[in-house]
Amino acid sequence: MLAAGLLVTGLSACGNSDTGDAAGTGGDDKLVLGFSQVGAESGWRTANTTSVKEAAAEAGIELKFDDAQQKQENQIKAIRNFIQQKVDVIAFSPVVESGWDTVLKEAKDAGIPVILTDRAVDSADKSLYKTFLGSDFVKEGRLAGEWLVEETKSATGPVNIVELQGTTGSAPANDRKKGFGEAIAANPNLKIIASQSGDFTRAGGKAVMEQFLKANPKIDVLFSHNDDMGLGALEAITAAGKEPGKDIKIITVDAVKDGMQALADGKFNFIAECSPLLGPQLMDLAKKVHAGEEVPPRIETEETTFTQETAKEALPTRKY
Ligand code: AHR
Repeated sequence: MLAAGLLVTGLSACGNSDTGDAAGTGGDDKLVLGFSQVGAESGWRTANTTSVKEAAAEAGIELKFDDAQQKQENQIKAIRNFIQQKVDVIAFSPVVESGWDTVLKEAKDAGIPVILTDRAVDSADKSLYKTFLGSDFVKEGRLAGEWLVEETKSATGPVNIVELQGTTGSAPANDRKKGFGEAIAANPNLKIIASQSGDFTRAGGKAVMEQFLKANPKIDVLFSHNDDMGLGALEAITAAGKEPGKDIKIITVDAVKDGMQALADGKFNFIAECSPLLGPQLMDLAKKVHAGEEVPPRIETEETTFTQETAKEALPTRKY
């Protein structure tokens, strides 16, 4: 008995993750959740990490948190560590959509349930994970495109659009591009003249926007897959002597505080919200899958959109 107890304690205490709460490694009954985060690339991601850590503490769950620094290989390594440590549940936000089947199968063979949070994977075998909690990224792109169609309905000439894509191969980049493209497809005036990844970061958004501005004398609209790249692009647009929000209309996704401030200030024109506050629902799901309860295969986050006027109203009470 004593030997078995020591073995359990030793297994759950090993590994190199940043453990949010050291309790639970000493053999108590706390549920242990291994969480592999994408990184810290954006304001959205920081808010998401805070939400997960706070919700775990509140729910009495021991969180083993790992930051993958936007690298799939780091996420795979973290998931393997969690399997080795025999955590109760694994959750992760996959940096890209493809290439997860092998490690997910390893988790399944070890009997550890997996929850996808924020981003999806493209695995054909849906039994490799229990559920996916997150946004409908295609819808976010479509809402952005529909706003633009309405906004430019009286335009007689071409409307030149540049697009800042998120991380190449990630679900939000693939899906937002798709949704936006579909929404504007029926309007021949609306043309995407350049589209490139800024990796969801401010620095990336600024660098790519500088290139866009150099290569294209007439840019009417920027569609940025997140606020941070849009905020980086603002600097490039201003430095090029153009007025963001007027000379170049800016549409983004997320609605983090800095983005909402830019919208309220008239520098952005429209934001499709993507909520990072997934922590409480994630903890609830972790408890349910650990208890062997059935959970829905897909849980969609509730979201809205913001204009310059509604951003002004929402800003004072914005949590992130
Ligand atoms: O997966 C969600 C996306 O990832 C957010 O829109 C973006 O800001 C983040 O980096």
